[in-house]
Amino acid sequence: MYRLGVLLSGRGSNFESILNAIKSGYIKNAEIVVVLSNKADARGLEKAKESGIDAFFINPNGLQREEYDKKLVSLLKGYSVDYVILAGYMRILSDYFIESFENKILNIHPALLPSFKGLHAQRQALEAGVRFAGATVHFVTKELDSGPIIVQSVVPVFDADTEGSLSNRILKTEHKIYPLAVKLLSEDRIKLKGNRVMIEGDFLDADFFA
Ligand code: GAR
Repeated sequence: MYRLGVLLSGRGSNFESILNAIKSGYIKNAEIVVVLSNKADARGLEKAKESGIDAFFINPNGLQREEYDKKLVSLLKGYSVDYVILAGYMRILSDYFIESFENKILNIHPALLPSFKGLHAQRQALEAGVRFAGATVHFVTKELDSGPIIVQSVVPVFDADTEGSLSNRILKTEHKIYPLAVKLLSEDRIKLKGNRVMIEGDFLDADFFA
């Protein structure tokens, strides 16, 4: 059984989608053992506590990035975490953190990487005038939003879209691909080959995005 630690900064809907997938048995070989947040009022912290998961606000005030990350790493190691799941965690991780969990950190980004890295990815997509947008689950490396891609989803962009409507359309697919990526990971079906991810076996059925 893999032990997951989740980092989040807000609403926590991606965290919830993974938690629900564990509860329903879609993900069988992983459990969320701790949730950490850099925001005291993150709704995701409350959701975790409601489900009986240990959840803590770790105050970043007055701490250098690495000092803060050392606190996080020591907490996560204290919980014997195997994988770190970034679920709307809006702080850049230090090299120290990334080296502490090398190839063991997953992130979801609301764009078809390598396009539209960084903040406001959905707004960037609208401004670029693309006809398709989406989401990406990837391993975290030291370069922002650049690690090996595990799964992606694609959605259309309509002329009438606003940042809000496009974000909602993308978010719905995030709630499918993040649990899928964690399921594949927990079944040891994900292998890294350089900057590419190889997935063992079929993993998408015909109506996955229906
Ligand atoms: C999601 O759309 C996620 O892709 C995005 O923040 C949102 C969090 O929502 N993450 C990033 O932009 C990371 N660069 P949630 O708190 O409801 O999961």
